[in-house]
Amino acid sequence: MINLPSKLNLWRQSFEERFEAIQNTLYSEDHSLHQACRYALAGQGKRIRPLFAMAAAEACSGRPEDALSLAVAAEMIHTYSLVHDDLPCMDDDDMRRGRATTHVIFDETTALLAGDALLSDAFLVVANDRELSAEIRANAVAQLAMAAGGRGMVKGQALDMYWTGRNDFTRADLDSIHLNKTGALIAASCSLGGLAAGATSTQVQTLEAFGRGIGLVFQIIDDLLDTAEGTGKSLGKDANLGKLTYLSLMTAEAAKNHAARLTDETLALVSSWGSQADALKQLGLSLLERKV
Ligand code: IPE
Ligand code: IPE
Ligand code: MG
Ligand code: MG
Ligand code: MG
Repeated sequence: MINLPSKLNLWRQSFEERFEAIQNTLYSEDHSLHQACRYALAGQGKRIRPLFAMAAAEACSGRPEDALSLAVAAEMIHTYSLVHDDLPCMDDDDMRRGRATTHVIFDETTALLAGDALLSDAFLVVANDRELSAEIRANAVAQLAMAAGGRGMVKGQALDMYWTGRNDFTRADLDSIHLNKTGALIAASCSLGGLAAGATSTQVQTLEAFGRGIGLVFQIIDDLLDTAEGTGKSLGKDANLGKLTYLSLMTAEAAKNHAARLTDETLALVSSWGSQADALKQLGLSLLERKV
């Protein structure tokens, strides 16, 4: 796990409690689809997107718990993306969150359908949160759909697959993959926290830019950790598959320096926000040093 201040660990606990309650309503039937959804959601997930949503709510002087159902929705969409990312037709991975992947434990069909269920049900979770106004729920659905869909994460995954095994790429191609496949959902997690807190549209836009920058850093570090022990994922997959990563273009040291510079620039976006943005900044900084 990432080493986080105790406040963020408490937030993580309240997230897990809400998440468990929602899973009990959505996936309590005794058949393999529901079991596969629960299996995918468990394990050593770092819950980074939920924590960003909660920290962003606090950064806008809101209560972190107001962002809980939006945080759950972001984590469900993220988890669906992992289940599909690991399928044989994509990265063909057999380890995730410290355990065998969903399609290995169940089967490919069940894993595919579990991903479909998690994606669709995420929007139900947002729509059903009666603590949030109808306007906030509508905006949150739009932001999540935009980040997850054909102009966001799914586009990023399509670009990632297109560039696998090719080498006539540019730096812009690489940034585009990373910003879409990973940056878009982290950006939405941040802006959703702002929405839940009733932030102004300028604040929400700043949070989105913050999340894009931090999301790019997150994926650069993910590339660097591909050959590291202890991530709960299989080792060295990117090089084996011929993935386009930061290490295709620069040394590990240069990639780390680039991530550090990008982190500084990104944190500067909220430098005038006062101490209520401290947790958001700490979380952003912690990604640079993460080992898992
Ligand atoms: C892994 O995401 C996939 C990427 C977008 C890099 P995480 O590293 O957040 O995975 P979990 O949720 O902690 O398992
Ligand atoms: C995954 O990128 C991005 C999404 C799942 C959207 P990777 O393929 O690099 O993630 P890992 O390394 O398998 O977690
Ligand atoms: Mg992938
Ligand atoms: Mg992968
Ligand atoms: Mg990776």
